[in-house]
Amino acid sequence: MYQTLSTTLNDNILVITINRPDKMNALNRQVMAELGLVVDEVYGDHNIKAAIITGAGDKAFVAGADISEFLELSPKQGEELAKSGHVVFHRIENSTKPIIAAVNGFALGGGCELAMACHFRIASENAKFGQPEVNLGLIPGYGGTQRLTQLIGRGKATELMMTGDMITAADALSWGLVNHVVTAEELLPKAIALLQKILSKAPLAIARVVKCVNAALDKNQDGFETEVKEFAACFATKDLQEGASAFIQKRKPNFIGE
Ligand code: COA
Repeated sequence: MYQTLSTTLNDNILVITINRPDKMNALNRQVMAELGLVVDEVYGDHNIKAAIITGAGDKAFVAGADISEFLELSPKQGEELAKSGHVVFHRIENSTKPIIAAVNGFALGGGCELAMACHFRIASENAKFGQPEVNLGLIPGYGGTQRLTQLIGRGKATELMMTGDMITAADALSWGLVNHVVTAEELLPKAIALLQKILSKAPLAIARVVKCVNAALDKNQDGFETEVKEFAACFATKDLQEGASAFIQKRKPNFIGE
């Protein structure tokens, strides 16, 4: 179905693998279009309850936007490219189903931006992160200037974007860019285990966590107001009745997402 992605669905978790290993899984127009389609699939398919984004091969998660497509672009086309990337990455960020990045190698430029659009990131020990666009006379254009600043703070983000330096998985962990670092073999099992834990919780509550966290970073929203609204809405759900009853009855809850 996809030319540049491969997908596998097991236990309601869709593993999305960006599959251009000979080009370090660089995000060309086709990958971006197919990422948009697969995100639509995550949103629309009831059998998919969570997703993992990773890269094919053992060298790269994604080594950036495809540089070979940059030479002929006008400013207008650059604007369109950035805007269309923003649409896809915002949809990942706003997905009510958890989407996490399993970073298995270079996550550079658009690759780092893709990982940052996911709800959180785990990395293999050989992962490397960076925004090297200044080496090309460019800046990040898929949300990187904003999300990197939010995730690691202004000083570190500015240094990374000004120097174009790469950081190791260990640095990314200590800077808060990734949540866990594991061996390459443990990467997907760890991502799956985390998602299985999340999928055992109340799905509507998980969706509301996404909404409130994103509201905290949205200048046009009062995140505290959003929290009050979303907290209140929980009381209309069967899952809150189930969760609270199960706690009192000292049994495991069985959430149905209603
Ligand atoms: N866009 C297009 N092609 C890319 C690419 C990108 N972002 N990143 C890697 N490739 C291609 C290379 O051109 C090469 O293709 P070729 O075999 O047809 O020549 C292939 O992927 C392998 O890359 P190579 O550079 O030979 O591998 P390496 O192990 O020596 O270096 C990187 C790996 C990731 C450090 C290096 O490829 C790199 O710096 N890539 C660009 C990163 C970047 O600037 N990203 C931001 C883009 S905005």
